[in-house]
Amino acid sequence: MALLCGVRLATIGSGGLKRPVRKRDPGGVIRVALIPGDGIGPEVLREACRVLEAAAAAGLLSVEFEEFPHGAAHYLATGETLGEDAFARLRDGFDAILLGAVGDERVPDGAHARDILLGLRFGLDLFVNLRPVRLRAPDLTPLRLSDDETIDIAIIRENTEGFYTGSGGSLREGTPQEIAISESVATYYGVERVVRAAFEFACRTGRERVTLADKANAVPHVYGLWRRTFLEVAAGYPDVEAETRYVDALAMELVRDPGRFDVIVTENLLGDILSDLAAGLVGGLGLAPSANLDLKGRGLYEPVHGSAPELAGTGTANPMAAVLSAAMMARENGAAEAADHIEAAVDRALREGIRTPDLGGDRGTEEVGAWLAEKVTESPSSV
Ligand code: NAD
Ligand code: IPM
Ligand code: MN
Repeated sequence: MALLCGVRLATIGSGGLKRPVRKRDPGGVIRVALIPGDGIGPEVLREACRVLEAAAAAGLLSVEFEEFPHGAAHYLATGETLGEDAFARLRDGFDAILLGAVGDERVPDGAHARDILLGLRFGLDLFVNLRPVRLRAPDLTPLRLSDDETIDIAIIRENTEGFYTGSGGSLREGTPQEIAISESVATYYGVERVVRAAFEFACRTGRERVTLADKANAVPHVYGLWRRTFLEVAAGYPDVEAETRYVDALAMELVRDPGRFDVIVTENLLGDILSDLAAGLVGGLGLAPSANLDLKGRGLYEPVHGSAPELAGTGTANPMAAVLSAAMMARENGAAEAADHIEAAVDRALREGIRTPDLGGDRGTEEVGAWLAEKVTESPSSV
């Protein structure tokens, strides 16, 4: 299969998960912009940086950081959410962006969070939102799995369309006659490229099945386009099994038999919901990393979770989702060895009970980060 897919990659050649074209020399410095953001964002990002710095000190990669202040406090103090200058610098001056989380009750409508997070996803055209869901230790799942069952799913969420474009409006807001319309947008261009990315990802990583989650029975325009395009693209990948599922039934199946899923590709809002659901099957949001990619080498890496305001300042937030996002960043930027070391350190921490309270442990955010930073130097085969 790998060979056939390889041939197809070369002959079709467009829109696939290509290797980054903006890649630096191997071993070159990875320039990382940090947006710690709000709530637990700064706390977990600090630990991700600590682990990256330890990996760098061990010679596993070269990295340099620059921190951006954008978030609720900056917005409340200056009125700026992201701003054109910052956007241009984030676009042109860095190899990767690492974000903690955005969201703060002092900005109840979430305007700054949308401008920063969606502004970067849309503005940088990061159309692939890769959210891996992997059971890293058997006791982390709330499900009863048999000994030979595991969970290893790649959710690929379309990241620039759907309900997230902001299309729509309100009339007579705040009155009993209020009318609110939010339109979901799907384009053939946008759907085709992300579905193709999902099949290319399956080929590149040796995955055998791609499942489309949609709601074509109830919402025929948008999801009809998704289903037709999915089947059209799938026809070019005869070695990858392609299946379509209505998202409601798929949600049930995810809980009953998660092991049957391999790659799931879906629309923006459905992917947002399914990725939190799937995270809940493997230990929760404290362990769920993500990458927002344009497949030309640009990426924004962030935990799937939000700013968890109730945990902020308690020192108990799990930093592993941020640390694993940093590993994804390293891997996408040519530092696979560093990524392997980081992932192995997380796996060992989980095995040895170095866990925050969300995973049943009693360690703090910093303690887990420091432990990972110490162990990241060890060879993955020895841990
Ligand atoms: P959330 O992800 O912040 O929290 C959901 C649940 O998961 C809470 O019980 C929380 O305690 C727990 N949790 C999350 N991260 C954790 C971690 N690292 N360790 C341990 N437990 C963790 O979602 P929410 O409560 O719906 O939203 C809070 C704010 O975050 C809102 O303003 C929301 O808009 C924002 N948000 C931002 C992002 C982002 O920046 N990418 C993502 C989701 C939500
Ligand atoms: C996520 C978040 C965001 C989203 C919010 C904060 C806009 O839930 O990254 O999953 O819906 O994409
Ligand atoms: Mn979400």
